[in-house]
Amino acid sequence: MSDKRQIKIFDTTLRDGEQSPGASMNLEEKLEMAHALAALGVDIIEAGFPIASPGDFESVREIARQVRGPEICGLARCNDADIDRAWEALQPAENPRIHVFLATSAIHREFKLKMTPDEIVERALKGVRRAKGYCPNVEFSPEDAARTEIDFLCRVVEAVIDAGATTVNIPDTVGYATPAHMGNVIKQLMNRVPNIDRAVIAIHCHNDLGLAVANSLAAVENGAGQIECTINGIGERAGNCALEEVVMAMRVRGDYYHCDTRINSQLLVPTSRLLCKLTGLQVQRNKAIVGRNAFAHESGIHQDGMLKEPRTYEIMRPEDVGLTKTDLVLGKHSGRAALADRIRTLGYNLTPEQVQSVFNDFKVLADKKKEVYDGDLVSLIENQLNGAVEEEWSLMDYTATLHCGTRPHVTVTLQKGNLRETADSVIGDGPVDAAFAAIEKITGVSLVCKEFAIKATTIGINASAEATIEVERDGESFRGRAVAMDSLEAAIKAILNATNRAQSAKRSELAKS
Ligand code: KIV
Ligand code: ZN
Repeated sequence: MSDKRQIKIFDTTLRDGEQSPGASMNLEEKLEMAHALAALGVDIIEAGFPIASPGDFESVREIARQVRGPEICGLARCNDADIDRAWEALQPAENPRIHVFLATSAIHREFKLKMTPDEIVERALKGVRRAKGYCPNVEFSPEDAARTEIDFLCRVVEAVIDAGATTVNIPDTVGYATPAHMGNVIKQLMNRVPNIDRAVIAIHCHNDLGLAVANSLAAVENGAGQIECTINGIGERAGNCALEEVVMAMRVRGDYYHCDTRINSQLLVPTSRLLCKLTGLQVQRNKAIVGRNAFAHESGIHQDGMLKEPRTYEIMRPEDVGLTKTDLVLGKHSGRAALADRIRTLGYNLTPEQVQSVFNDFKVLADKKKEVYDGDLVSLIENQLNGAVEEEWSLMDYTATLHCGTRPHVTVTLQKGNLRETADSVIGDGPVDAAFAAIEKITGVSLVCKEFAIKATTIGINASAEATIEVERDGESFRGRAVAMDSLEAAIKAILNATNRAQSAKRSELAKS
């Protein structure tokens, strides 16, 4: 038995994370993610906000029915309808938790809720008592706790624990805190709330100042026993505390924090990649722990040190987070077995059909490029996984006519089942703009482009191109991504990927109604 204090990991990827633009998932996707989180070893899965929509209710209920291991939690405001609905969704869970919240800061009391401090306490108690009537496991969150006057926060926390809250979460809802500030809030609660030992104190930090992980660690240092976080740090605005970062900080610096979690760290990279696949939201290359460059060593001095002793420049082993690095470069003579092995060591778990499909793409790429690097391979795999999103339309052919000083023309042919359609000589401000218009003409799907980027997947002039796009329809955003040797082809495929995602979301909505 470890002498380290065990910190509970409360994962809110499917609730706070899913709330962020471009991160929406359908029922099957949420279930797949919830099973992955259970395998990863999180203690609590916040599966959604059941009153928010029929879709949210359905996914919380299905997760409660099917996922075993972690506690399953549903969010509710402090009112009867929310709490009743949350309980209805959570009932099938082996170990349910109701999470009620109410804002406590002066700014929220005055402008949002128009309630006095006494009314806030009364409403919070009513909410906790109603939830407690259903379920022994109740969490309360004073929303915007980090900006709440400390005396009032102590009063609320004491009252909700008396009313039966078993966990009290301290959210930094707007990402305003700094580590010293957050540490001090937890310290004050620990010292001043007389019944504090009857509840677990949790921390829930947003990342608006890039401090969510640091603030969560400061809270742990001062006695918090639960961290609320998301895979890849997704969440409202700048996101939430990143699970993989906070977990590895406690593990790698166990000498300092004397804390640990139940997380199977070797599943961190696969779980991160699963989320990227399901949402289309990629992590930045230099993202700690799970970014593509997190274990890449570029400078000669570092490479030399690494060859002599990896610990010179690596504070954790890539395999500890689910990544086995080798310097193996694949080429056109590499076989399927070598490729399959490389895919596994890169942290992906593909079906034999998906491996075959990546192998086919790899052969095409290896014919064009002498050496295929990990970066190329990751792009091919992610391309394949992106393709796993029901691709209603696929690209058959395209041509582009570009002359200096004139607007480009693009012709695109798409296929849907047995149907082939061509949009001929569509003009745009640039070839990507023209391709966007051509795809809209064929599919009839009208989208607004919010962000478009194209970059090389690896070093060198012959690197493949990776295109990413974010589009919007009726305020909902969708992402698309694709890789190809030709940058226009990558762009067309990325637009198509986003179009297919938008259509797939529409089909799921229609199926529900
Ligand atoms: O950020 C926040 O305050 C929340 C609460 C609902 C816990 O997400
Ligand atoms: Zn939040």
